[in-house]
Amino acid sequence: MKTQKTILITGAARGIGAALCRQLAAQGHHIIAVSRNLDKLKKLQNEILEHDAHHQIDVLPFDLEAPQTIPDFIDRLKTCCSKIDVVIHNAGMLVNKPFTQISSEELQRVYQVNVFGPFALTQALFPYLKQATAAHVIGISSMGGVQGSAKFAGLTAYSSSKAAMAGWCEVLAEEWKAENIKVNCLALGAAQTEMLEDAFPGYKAPLTAEEMANYISWFAVNGHLYFNGKILPVALSTP
Ligand SMILES: NC(=O)c1ccc[n+]([C@@H]2O[C@H](COP(=O)([O-])OP(=O)(O)OC[C@H]3O[C@@H](n4cnc5c(N)ncnc54)[C@H](OP(=O)(O)O)[C@@H]3O)[C@@H](O)[C@H]2O)c1
Repeated sequence: MKTQKTILITGAARGIGAALCRQLAAQGHHIIAVSRNLDKLKKLQNEILEHDAHHQIDVLPFDLEAPQTIPDFIDRLKTCCSKIDVVIHNAGMLVNKPFTQISSEELQRVYQVNVFGPFALTQALFPYLKQATAAHVIGISSMGGVQGSAKFAGLTAYSSSKAAMAGWCEVLAEEWKAENIKVNCLALGAAQTEMLEDAFPGYKAPLTAEEMANYISWFAVNGHLYFNGKILPVALSTP
């Protein structure tokens, strides 16, 4: 029988995150779905449980822009699980604006959601990851954050923050080797979601959110067996 894992997914209410929750719950894993939007999370939870009442999904509201609420979040997490096998840092924020028009507040927000928030959350989750036999932390980055890949005007804040996320994942993998916690980063290419529509209005992506989530779901459960400290492009385009 396959081992059931406890998998925490941020940005779970829509797009790739919601698709990950559906797929990984259907595989029998215990999902902890995290988003700012409790109503949407509850809708997703109901949908998943209506499909199969044996599926396991807990929903926890949390705003990556409110790091002061992390202790409260961890208190609520205690009621759902005693260990976490996989964390998928899927939540992300994008600002699409010319460089000279990005305010410091917007820059701060993008970095809070894409870098500082996941960083602080991972610190707080460390005791839970240590309880797992072979934990796996996954940063969801973007091809835009990969050195040498195609770059797009308007995305300086977003793409540079995704590069920062890839950087801390790579270093943390080294630091947590002794803890047997693997850390990897997936640099996604285009998938059809609300965020993609904001970045490239009218563009038709080669993958749906569900198709992208298919790969991430596999990687979440198996990737730690093959990779550590890697930044892996998941994209049909080259570079
Ligand atoms: N779609 C693509 O083509 C593409 C390409 C490269 C990388 N990515 C990355 O893939 C991930 C998923 O993106 P997506 O395309 O599925 O985007 P999406 O549909 O726009 O979803 C983004 C998610 O991030 C969450 N989020 C935003 N700000 C947050 C905050 N302050 N606190 C907590 N959660 C917050 C949102 O949650 P709420 O429910 O709280 O609003 C939402 O669930 C992102 O990290 C994105 O950068 C996507």
